[in-house]
Order: sequence, then C-alpha cells, then structure tokens
Amino acid sequence: VDTCRRGDKVTDKLVECSDPTRGPPCPPPTPTPIVVDFQPEATVKRVRRPAHLLDREHKEKYREAVGKMRALPATHPLSFAAQAAVHEAYCDGHYRYDPAEKNRPFDVHFSWIFAPWHRMYIYFYEKALGQLIGDDTFALPFWNWDAPAGMGIPAIFKDDDSFANPLYDPYRDQTHRDALIDLDYIHSPKDVPPIPFVRTPATAAAYDEAVQKNLCTIYQQQIRGGKGARAYLGEKLCSEASVRVKEMNERSRRRQEDGQQIKPNPTASQGTLERMAHTAVHVWVGRPDPKGGCATLAGGAVLGHDGKPHCGNDMGFLGTAARDPLFYSHHSNVDRMWHLWSTKLGGAAAGFDDPEWLDASFVFYDGVERPRPVRIRFRDVLDTRNLGYTYDDEESEKAALPWLDSRP
Ligand code: C2O
Repeated sequence: VDTCRRGDKVTDKLVECSDPTRGPPCPPPTPTPIVVDFQPEATVKRVRRPAHLLDREHKEKYREAVGKMRALPATHPLSFAAQAAVHEAYCDGHYRYDPAEKNRPFDVHFSWIFAPWHRMYIYFYEKALGQLIGDDTFALPFWNWDAPAGMGIPAIFKDDDSFANPLYDPYRDQTHRDALIDLDYIHSPKDVPPIPFVRTPATAAAYDEAVQKNLCTIYQQQIRGGKGARAYLGEKLCSEASVRVKEMNERSRRRQEDGQQIKPNPTASQGTLERMAHTAVHVWVGRPDPKGGCATLAGGAVLGHDGKPHCGNDMGFLGTAARDPLFYSHHSNVDRMWHLWSTKLGGAAAGFDDPEWLDASFVFYDGVERPRPVRIRFRDVLDTRNLGYTYDDEESEKAALPWLDSRP
C-alpha cells in the first residue's frame, strides 16, 4: 500500500489477521492461493438509483439478493457475515503492519485509502448480490441523504420491522427511525428531540431550517472544503498526521477497553468526504451506547439475523457497521459523492497523481459460484465505468443537485 517508516510494504504484512481472539473478523481462509488481476468490465450495465425512489421490482430484487447472501454459510467468503467481517478486519486494529508491533494497526479509514477501498469493497458486494439473483444489471441502491426526500432512513430498510425483511437491522437508534437526518450530527447537541421526517405545519419552520443546514453541510464537504485531493480524500497513509491519528485512536481504544472514558477521535487526517456527512450518518443511525448492554425489544433480548444474541450498535461503530445492510447503501452514496466530485464538480482528476496511491492494491473475493481472490489497484477504480456501474444522475441530467448553491 505504501511505505511507512522503515520502508516496509504494508501489503506484505497484511496476510496475517493478527489477533483472532477479538471476535469473528478474520476473513475466511483462501480457497485457492492464486490471485488474479482485476480486469475492467467491458460495458456499463449497472445504474445505481436512490433507495427511496426504487420501483417495486428493484425493491424486491434488493431484498431477495440480500436474503440470499444472508443464507450462504458464514464460511463462504461472499456470505453476508463474511462481508461484514471483511470491513471489521480492516479497521478496529485487527491487522498490523507487523504483528509484533501491537500499536500500529492498519486501517482503511483516516487516510487517502478511504475512498478507493470502500469503492472496491461495495463493488464486489454489489456484484455478488447480482450473481445471487442471476441479474448482472443489479445495482446497489444509494441512500440519497443529500436530497431532502432522502434525508431519512429509506423505507425498504425498516419495512416490517422484523427479520422477515433481510434489509432490516434492530441495532439502530430507534429514536431516529422516522426522523429527519442531521448531517452534522457529530457537532449537534444530543439532548434536543429529533425532527420528524414528515413535514407538518407544526414542524415546518424547524424542518426547513434543518434541511437547509444539511444542504450547507454537503456544500461545505463537496465544494468549499473539498478543494484538492488532500482536502477531500484525506492525507497520505503514514503521513505524520495520519500516524499521529492512529496512535491517538489506539490509545483511546485501550482506554475504552479499560472502561475509561473515550476521547473523541481526532480527524486531522480525514478528508471532508470521510469526516463530514459520512461519519455523521454512521453515528446518527447506530445505537447511541455501544457499551450500554444489549438492546431489548418487547421485553426479550434482541437476537441477530443469525438467531444469536448480539449487543452491538452496528452502524455507530466502525468495527460492526457493515453488519447493517444500510451500511452498503450509505456507502453507495458516499461513493456517489466522490464520483460527483471527480466528474461534475472537479473536472478531470479523480484523486492523487502520486504513484504510491495509484498503484496501491487490495485483494477481494470475486464470484459467488467459485470465489477467487482478485487483486485490484486504486488506478483501476478511478472511473466507475471500469467497474461497470454509474449513477442515475448521469442518465438524467435533469437530476439537479439540491446543495450545489447552498452556500452557508
Ligand atoms: Cu469503513 Cu463508513 O466506513
């Protein structure tokens, strides 16, 4: 990935999941040691659409596909459990640059790795879902939280409020189930009641103000604060800033394990894409207190889709976030933000021209039938057409971006 300190290649050390005692996150063993290189897709077959505007057919396909992914055995590298574990493995300190160096966890957050890694990750997830339902045009719907009509949890993720819906997850903050999202939630006082998503005469003033504030947040993230790759995508991995951030995060994690108070994560090395709406949405969706015991619904312990008790806060914590299907549609929109930045907003450049970034690569499983590891480089993913997908903003130029002129 990059050369840090003594010049060691991070990727060479990433073969080991150094601390398997900390839960289930090590990805399943490789079925075959042969790693092939990613080949760009020949045509653009998948158009990602807003989750709140899906027609019946696309809703049903999404539910069916995630249902089938959940039904795969956990040992299958493209099962839902394994997918969630992949995300967990790449944060929360499971990988080390060097297993002997406990204090240098490797993380796909907090640096310039964030945008391309997550693009790769949800691309293979999307492809697997399509294979499971035999539809190679299946595209991962995006949670359109940057438009007023999308500023709440899309209905498909909470329909039924039960496991009959594979897109449902009980480990969300129930007080936000039908609320208007706050894209600057990190900085907002937590003791004010949320504004309902449905605007009524009684709430109109507060609602309009909150929507406007959200649009300004996106404007700040995408335009005013996101000038240039460093500002928008984050600092180089192992830059002084990012090493400092990781050390502080590690200290705060250890304190947390000791039952001490958690200090807010420093964000100095994150770009606006990661630091702003992306993080706010995670924290806003997840249960507020990860250590506060297990959620109970209707008097009983809450069991997960696997029927086992599960006490996380899912979206609110990076280690567990990908256990909520909402994660992937959230990241579909984060990815769309990057796509808009590098096409409509910024002109030509999708990111850095530093070869360390362009040639950085990761390995993902591809293919539900016969999963095989595929190596893919950042330069392969800078244009979504290479990955065979686009966003429906492209199709209809009419889709105006509501925040384009929302100067704070
Ligand atoms: Cu890997 Cu939204 O985080």
